[in-house]
Amino acid sequence: MGVILALLAGSVAMGIGGLYSIGSADLSVQDEQPIRFSHHLHAGTLAIKCQYCHRYATRSPVAGVPSMAVCQTCHQSLPQTTPDMKMLQTYWKEKRPIPWVRLQRLPDHVYFTHEMHLFAGLSCISCHGNVDRMSNTPRAPTYEMGWCLTCHEQRGASHDCWTCHK
Ligand code: HEC
Ligand code: HEC
Ligand code: HEC
Ligand code: HEC
Ligand code: HEC
Repeated sequence: MGVILALLAGSVAMGIGGLYSIGSADLSVQDEQPIRFSHHLHAGTLAIKCQYCHRYATRSPVAGVPSMAVCQTCHQSLPQTTPDMKMLQTYWKEKRPIPWVRLQRLPDHVYFTHEMHLFAGLSCISCHGNVDRMSNTPRAPTYEMGWCLTCHEQRGASHDCWTCHK
């Protein structure tokens, strides 16, 4: 942890996107995020659309974490009632990106893009589960090849090894 990687090509180019830091490889522990962010509150109760925050999903391989400017569309005018809300404003004032710990990751030898899958009409929830009911985003179990292949089978998508292994 600690070393900050800009994993999103798009965000590097624009210089304003969100950043991921390196997460723990241990799947048995709940990852501590720098700010406790609740999908249950934001995507569930407040019904904010997934793509309002994960803006790259339909036009790039990655979905992306939101930049602080996205949070500030609401939070700059909300009262700072909790420690986590205050911490968000501290990051903002100091112009430091929030080093979110990345939770889902495929091995490097696998090629995956969000764009194509969303274009095919799949919903976020069909792969990530009911994130809108989670108050603590859990680390995904490893994505097994069989999981990809089962859906590819059902939907008539490619089985060729080189579709996923470049
Ligand atoms: C569309 C508006 C909106 C956006 C965008 C938004 N929030 Fe919120 N957020 C809220 C509202 C409303 C609350 C509840 C405020 C309250 O209860 O006083 C809230 C509450 C919170 C809390 C307090 C939860 C707690 O119990 O401590 C945190 C932390 C938070 N948001 C972080 C974020 C972060 C980080 C982002 C950007 C990734 C973000 N929010 C984007 C509207 C938004
Ligand atoms: C208000 C902004 C906001 C909304 C709306 C939102 N997210 Fe997120 N999402 C975040 C932030 C911030 C993180 C990083 C912190 C975390 O993992 O909880 C994140 C992380 C994630 C992750 C884990 C990514 C990783 O590997 O680290 C997934 C999966 C995800 N969101 C899916 C969704 C889905 C599906 C929806 C719609 C149901 C959604 N999000 C709606 C802000 C948002
Ligand atoms: C076909 C299954 C599938 C669908 C549909 C899908 N995802 Fe993902 N998502 C994945 C996989 C697999 C990974 C890990 C990718 C990697 O490591 O390269 C991932 C990673 C992520 C991440 C973390 C890495 C990144 O790309 O930023 C976020 C955030 C995320 N997804 C959000 C979403 C949201 C929001 C939607 C809907 C708009 C969505 N996903 C739709 C399978 C899916
Ligand atoms: C829920 C169903 C579903 C899951 C799960 C799924 N896929 Fe797919 N995938 C599809 C569909 C449908 C297409 C065909 C899109 C098209 O051609 O319109 C596709 C297409 C692809 C393509 C071709 C995209 C291109 O650029 O030609 C790749 C690569 C791919 N998937 C990789 C993966 C990997 C890797 C996983 C597992 C980590 C995975 N998929 C999991 C449904 C799924
Ligand atoms: C739809 C996508 C997809 C297709 C098609 C696919 N794979 Fe995979 N493959 C994956 C994913 C995802 C993983 C990573 C699984 C994990 O991390 O547990 C993987 C892992 C592997 C591994 C490493 C296994 C390990 O234990 O680490 C090998 C070897 C492999 N695939 C070979 C193949 C061969 C040979 C084919 C063609 C017959 C093929 N794959 C077709 C998605 C795919």
